[in-house]
Amino acid sequence: MKIGIIVYSHTGNTLSVAWKIEQAIRAAGHEVRTEKVEPVIDNPNSDTPAELKSSPDVDQYDAVVFASPVHAFSLSRIMKHYLLQLPDLTGKKVHCFVTQQLKKPWMGGNRAVRQISDVCRKKGAQVISGGVVNWSGKNRESQIEDIVRRMSVF
Ligand SMILES: Cc1cc2nc3c(=O)[nH]c(=O)nc-3n(C[C@H](O)[C@H](O)[C@H](O)COP(=O)(O)O)c2cc1C
Repeated sequence: MKIGIIVYSHTGNTLSVAWKIEQAIRAAGHEVRTEKVEPVIDNPNSDTPAELKSSPDVDQYDAVVFASPVHAFSLSRIMKHYLLQLPDLTGKKVHCFVTQQLKKPWMGGNRAVRQISDVCRKKGAQVISGGVVNWSGKNRESQIEDIVRRMSVF
């Protein structure tokens, strides 16, 4: 299987988890690549329309892991913009996860996972699982382990 991990990460937390998933997927015998969604201006506080300088093509992948930080109790504007412009995802399996600073998944994380899942389902993907890492929570490492375990299986 050819798997893409598509990540937006402003300060590196989400990307660090993506790399762990990449290693686990490779160890499971799949071909895998991590690609970054990059805005022209990486200012999460800006309310100007998001413009992307790097917008990974998912056509080549059988399965995709989408990952993003939570911004303002919601999916980051950059990831939202990226997902909405994707083509049809019929036939693709999808996992997704988000990272957030606050301690509880209901403080924006669950909502952001739902936002990713909803867009992917509307585009025809089969969403297998979602996850939240609460970066300042005491369970952070076990949350990461759980996500790495689940998201390296398709
Ligand atoms: C503009 C902005 C808004 C944020 N809003 C939230 C929020 O609503 N809830 C939260 O838990 N964390 C929030 N955070 C923290 C990030 O979600 C958290 O640090 C995340 O792990 C960053 O991921 P990254 O390093 O991949 O960018 C915010 C960060 C920024 C920069």
